[in-house]
Amino acid sequence: MASSGAEFVVIANRLPVDRDVLADGTVAWRKSPGGLVTALEPVMKSQGGAWIGWHGAPDETLEPFDDDGLHLVPVPLSSQEVEEYYEGFSNATLWPLYHDVVAPPAFRREWWDSYVAVNRRFAERAAEEAAQGAVVWVQDYQLQLVPTMLRELRPDLRIGFFLHIPFPPTELFQQLPWRRQILEGLLGADLVGFQLPGAAQNFVRLVRQRVGHKTHRDMVYLPDGRGVLAKAYPISIDAQGFEDLARSERVTRRAAEIRASLGNPRKVLLGIDRLDYTKGLRQRIRAFGELVRDGSVDLDDAVFVQVATPSRERVDQYRILRDDIDRLVGRINGDVGKIGQQPVQYLHASYPREEMAALYRAADVMVVTPLRDGMNLVAKEYVACRYDDQGALVLSEFAGAAAELKQAYLVNPYDINGTKAALLQAMEAGERENGKRMKAMRKHVMEHDIERWARTFLQELSEVGSHDKNPRPASVS
Ligand code: F6P
Repeated sequence: MASSGAEFVVIANRLPVDRDVLADGTVAWRKSPGGLVTALEPVMKSQGGAWIGWHGAPDETLEPFDDDGLHLVPVPLSSQEVEEYYEGFSNATLWPLYHDVVAPPAFRREWWDSYVAVNRRFAERAAEEAAQGAVVWVQDYQLQLVPTMLRELRPDLRIGFFLHIPFPPTELFQQLPWRRQILEGLLGADLVGFQLPGAAQNFVRLVRQRVGHKTHRDMVYLPDGRGVLAKAYPISIDAQGFEDLARSERVTRRAAEIRASLGNPRKVLLGIDRLDYTKGLRQRIRAFGELVRDGSVDLDDAVFVQVATPSRERVDQYRILRDDIDRLVGRINGDVGKIGQQPVQYLHASYPREEMAALYRAADVMVVTPLRDGMNLVAKEYVACRYDDQGALVLSEFAGAAAELKQAYLVNPYDINGTKAALLQAMEAGERENGKRMKAMRKHVMEHDIERWARTFLQELSEVGSHDKNPRPASVS
């Protein structure tokens, strides 16, 4: 057990930095643009925190290093582990299973073995880094076994877990051959956080049914006297950071340039997603194509810009999706486009935050229509960037964000006609109507930012460990 060490430890599949190899061959680490590191950086810096994660390359062991005040601890993965733990169990078993089975999950025993082995490695690394009594925050579906593995090694720690993706309904979760081990893995935490209250309820119900522990509302009571709280903490973004960026002169100029290069159409519609089958890209593009084809939308009037960020490209379902989207966009542009005028501008690329902010400002209608999504931060980023209270958000009911952004044009993404109607409604609504909706959504997003999310979670984690706060009611025997 470590006698000194970090008072605050984050464990995530990835480190919050990307490696750049400079022209002279030297290596530099660049902070990745995620909101999580932005939120946790001040806590990490003030408490001498450590971040444990994979650095993104296989078959390479790196020593811990400090970068811009953060202590980073790389966890190595072999090529086989990348294939089995990351691409396999995390992204071809858990990912589709947890997203409503929108693609069939594959259940392979060797992937599970690798998931167990890699989770153990993360837990061991954390056990070495954490100071006596430290707070450890485990992130996401790739590491669900870590809380219990870590508690066995270091019972002195206070352990939190947050699931960034949906937690499935009990009927779907039960398909998992290792369902009990996953539930028991999570129960090593003092606090298990989810995006939505329904997810926390699914978890508590499963624990009662499958593991047999007593539960009461959001508490699970373990036989050893420990209590585990399961609750929703909807994640957010660095809202002020996005607004400041959107207000900057460079972004303002770039937004105008983008509109001009699209031919200054009356309406610019925008989608920005990781190229993932959960994002509803097929349905969304088809809906817009039909609007152009049936004449509801005039080609001289509107353009749909779809940015799809490359993701998990070695996983079969992602390869299939890429080909499908290429074909679909090609067919629509071929069928209804004219010389110099393509209804769908499709970009398979990732862009820095600044370009994203310019795109958000250039877009009259933001289209976020996943088939299932834990939260969807793009929806919140769009809202944060619209300091002018303009723009319209078309949002899937099945994104976690829909629980908060109630003034969006909400759609069932499986309903193509409904999606078409919502797109038209958003395009045709007047400034007053959109202004009213955007103002309300902005108020919510600006107040509920990522800093508040992290503060609330960590505050409740510090309280839940003291069990007298959550005594077992007499009625729960
Ligand atoms: O939403 C889940 C998530 O794992 C995020 O944490 C991450 O930014 C994104 O998906 C991309 O995932 P990957 O690490 O597989 O590229």
